[in-house]
Formats: sequence, structure tokens, C-alpha cells
Amino acid sequence: MRASQLVCILLSLAAGCAFDGDGGGDAPLGGSLAVTGQVVDFQSGTAIDAAASVTTSGLLPAPQVTTRGAEFTIEGIPENSAFQILASAPPAHRQTFSPAVVVTDSDKDGIEAPAVSEALLGQLATAFGVTPTAAKGILFVRLVDSAGAPKTGVTAADILVAGAVGPKFLDANLAPATGATATTASGWAVFFEVTPGAVSLGRSGTAAVTVDMATSPVQAGAVTLAEGIVTNGAPTLPTNVSFATTLFPMFASRGCVACHSGNGPGKELGGLKLDGSANAAYKELVLEKPNTRVRTGAPETSLVLTYPSREDPPDRHPNITFASSLDPDYVRLLVWIREGAKDN
Ligand code: HEC
Repeated sequence: MRASQLVCILLSLAAGCAFDGDGGGDAPLGGSLAVTGQVVDFQSGTAIDAAASVTTSGLLPAPQVTTRGAEFTIEGIPENSAFQILASAPPAHRQTFSPAVVVTDSDKDGIEAPAVSEALLGQLATAFGVTPTAAKGILFVRLVDSAGAPKTGVTAADILVAGAVGPKFLDANLAPATGATATTASGWAVFFEVTPGAVSLGRSGTAAVTVDMATSPVQAGAVTLAEGIVTNGAPTLPTNVSFATTLFPMFASRGCVACHSGNGPGKELGGLKLDGSANAAYKELVLEKPNTRVRTGAPETSLVLTYPSREDPPDRHPNITFASSLDPDYVRLLVWIREGAKDN
């Protein structure tokens, strides 16, 4: 509950005071979740011994952040959002983006936002013989299985980052594994010289696995941490996706209707309503603004896909719900558009 509601309840005991029951009210664009945690050293996992400064990436407007030593509290996050925490604690630690933090309908406590030390970055550059330039970023990806355990044996063919140097691999103690050609017991792979903007992983034609990594922010001179969930084989696509039975319920289950409903004032954001009937939502998406929200000629550029995803440069959408283009709901929407965006 927010302070304004509490005041209202206290007042209402005495004087009678109405506030809207759904808790919407003055919540920033439909969300008021909080995330708390601390900034930890990447290698040791212990809280850094410095005053951290913390911001977020992927939320618009940026939520309010307060810090105390290594601890942080982030407030005003919309439900169903995936975002990154940018922790900075100079001079010992480099600015580091956390792996994606995903919130659905409740607050999260005890989040660890790791910061990579300058000492480790120096050690890696020497061991791997690379000279990182200030205009590029560094990406650390931890490859894990679907249960979250580190995955060994993931090779360079399985994880590509266009234009970058790497992957290089870290050993079980997060030190450089100079001779390694695949992930070790730690699961960590590192790419240097990554172009600022947004990074996602590609796979070569000979890749043995599919890696689902959140599309992540990259900043010049900063480190980006990410998790890559590894499954065997190539991605599989659904077919004959139904708008009415598959996609329409998703707009409620993934929280789009919190901001795109016609039932309350101020909630029809972007002029888009996704609640009511499947038929009404279809008209809104496909017919009301032709070739905009849904674009059958260039499916990936449809606003219904780009707005809830990370874009480079960022678009005007307040939050990101589809952390990667392997999100099953993203894939279903994409296939439905490729199949002609039918009212089916
Ligand atoms: C926290 C509130 C919020 C949530 C949740 C949200 N949206 Fe939005 N959406 C907005 C706002 C605000 C805009 C208008 C952005 C702008 O262009 O300025 C918008 C715009 C859009 C547009 C473009 C409309 C147009 O014609 O310009 C699409 C499509 C869209 N959202 C789809 C979605 C989908 C799909 C979801 C769920 C996965 C979703 N949104 C969740 C707030 C939200």
C-alpha cells in the first residue's frame, strides 16, 4: 500500500474519504512494485564496501531509487516488467548492469546486483590478450540449464555476439580459463568490444543448443551481466496460432490490460484497448491503425512486438514484458502475424 492510500484510510475512519479500490489512483502508469537488495562483488558475492549508486534500465519513467551503503530500494515498478539494475561503485568496481530482474505481481527482496571489479577486468584483459576500448562494453553471460545450474560445454558456435571479441571463458573460480573452448563449471562466457545499445545472442548454423538470454543494455565502458538458459536443439515454432483462444487471454495474463483497458479513465494508454472481447481487441490491434500495431509486411517491426521488448534506441513504452525474442508469448504473436494476422 502506498502512503497516499494509508492517509486516505486513516482519514476515512474519521471523515469519509474515497479512494479507488483497484489501487490504480496515482500509481505510475499502473505499477507500484518495489525491489530491494544489495550491490555485491561479482567474484566474492559479498556486499561491496562502498556507497553504491544505482539506476535502472528498461523502465520509463525511471522508478525512484534510494541507497544506503551497498543496499538499494527501487519503488514504482510496473507489474510484469523485465529490467536491469545498473550498479556503480567507483573506483574499485566498474559500472555493471545486472542480469534481468523480472517482476510479475509482487515485490522482490534480496536481489543481488553484482559489480565487476577493476582488478578482475584487468586480469581478464591480460590473460585473454585483449585491449578493451572505452567506446565499447563487456558482456558476461552465465549459461545455465532450465533449473538454473551452470551449464558446461557451451561452445563459441552456440553463442554469437555480432562484432564482438569472444567468447572467452571463466573457470570454476571466475578466473580466466585461458585454454578453454567451451563453458566450464561456472558457466560464464565473456565477450569484449560489444557495441553499445542492446545486445542479444545469435547462434551459428552448427549450434547444438538454443540459448535464451534477455536482450540486454550495453554501455560504453560498462559491464553487462546476463543469464542464458540453454535448451537442446534449434528453437521450435508453433503453427496455426489463434488470436481469440491463445493471444487474447495473454493480454490479461501478461498484464497488458493494466494499462490498455477501456474500463477506467486514464488507462487506455497509447489509445489502445486490449480488454473486452477478442473481437474488439482484434479491431484495435489490426484495423484501427493499419500497418502500425501489427505489420504483416514486416512482422518484427509491429508495435505489439517492439513496444513490450527492449529496443535500440529505447522506444516510449513504459516497461518491457518480453525479455527476449524467445519469450513464448512473443513467439506466438510473431507467428500469428507471419501467418497473416487473421481474426481466428
Ligand atoms: C505500465 C503501463 C503499460 C503496460 C503494462 C503495457 N503498456 Fe503498452 N503502452 C503504454 C503506453 C504509455 C503507451 C504509449 C507509448 C507512447 O507511444 O508514448 C503504450 C503503447 C503501446 C502500443 C502502441 C499503441 C499505439 O498505437 O501507439 C502497443 C502496441 C502496446 N502498448 C502494446 C502493449 C502490450 C502487448 C503490452 C503487454 C505485453 C503492453 N503494451 C503493456 C503503457 C503500457
